Amino acid sequence: MLVLGIDTSCDDTAASIVDKGTSVISSIVSSQNEIHSKYGGIVPELASRRHLEMLWPVVDEALYKAGAVLDDISAIAVCQGPGLIGSLLVGVCFAKSLAYVKNIPLIAVNHLEGHIFSSFLQKEKPEFPFVTLVVSGGHTSIYEVRGFGKYIEMGRTLDDAAGEAFDKVAKLLQLGYPGGPFIDSLSEEGDPKAILFPRPNINKGLDFSFSGLKTAVLTHIKKEPLAKKQDIAAGFQAAVVDVLVDKTIAAARNRNIKRIVLAGGVSANRELRQGMEKRAGNEDIKTYLLPADLCTDNAAMIASAGFFHFKEGDIAKFNLNPKAYLPLGLPASDI
Ligand code: KG4
Ligand code: ZN
Repeated sequence: MLVLGIDTSCDDTAASIVDKGTSVISSIVSSQNEIHSKYGGIVPELASRRHLEMLWPVVDEALYKAGAVLDDISAIAVCQGPGLIGSLLVGVCFAKSLAYVKNIPLIAVNHLEGHIFSSFLQKEKPEFPFVTLVVSGGHTSIYEVRGFGKYIEMGRTLDDAAGEAFDKVAKLLQLGYPGGPFIDSLSEEGDPKAILFPRPNINKGLDFSFSGLKTAVLTHIKKEPLAKKQDIAAGFQAAVVDVLVDKTIAAARNRNIKRIVLAGGVSANRELRQGMEKRAGNEDIKTYLLPADLCTDNAAMIASAGFFHFKEGDIAKFNLNPKAYLPLGLPASDI
């Protein structure tokens, strides 16, 4: 049962063919990094225009690589949000038109649910319940996942997402965009203890806050213009990782859950992966890690989550609209 997944939530144009929600047949991602890097961040209008140019060729390539044609597709799953509204609009309109013309069921998928479902594309799949940290350029949240469609938000960022902080600090250090991978590799040459940046909100519940940390880096750069970039990168990364690991472990402990899934672009970070595995291991908690191409935005994750919606008969109507703000699951206070 083949599902065509489409994601245009941010600055990657992605299409994928997934069989039975778990097996990736093809996955194409057309990155816009070259377009946005000269601005040090995403320019939403340029992102939507590029999606418009690239979406058809990307879908075509995903079908071609899978050896499939549209008549072989059982459902079209599209990311409805959250994300940049202009970018989402391109994907949703395209998916609606294709579904209408070819008479294929249309499925709406939340981008965050997609990130969570990336873990079902792996050979070793996590059993329910598990705790997941979804950490990317737009989101930083901890969920308890009790089953398909049963998500409880345990914590979230109150300001910047962790990936956003990586990107902004990389911009301050003039490293390039997106900043996460640059900081990740530069940190290897630095001393994480040379500069002790604050660990925001570390002992205060499960919510995150990263905007103060970014300001602390800026203040340090102004005060110590000769400080080594490597040490700044390593010190900043260590602070982010400490907070992410600490709160995710606290969430798992709180629910007595022995499985943690890392998802989203920042979960490609070397130190986060090592730190989480080490701390979780000490508490007999298993950490599920994804390969880098399933951490960052892709459409296989949308097709996977879409398959499970399809199985439940959750078909979208043709009046489906994209949503820039689309929370996932219930906040802990509502259960
Ligand atoms: O999941 P994603 O592709 O898009 C969103 O949904 O936001 O995540 C992109 C984010 C960017 O902020 C990027 O800098 C960050 O993930 N990122 C990393 C690494 N690789 C990507 N951050 C830290 N270390 C990395 N290795
Ligand atoms: Zn994402």
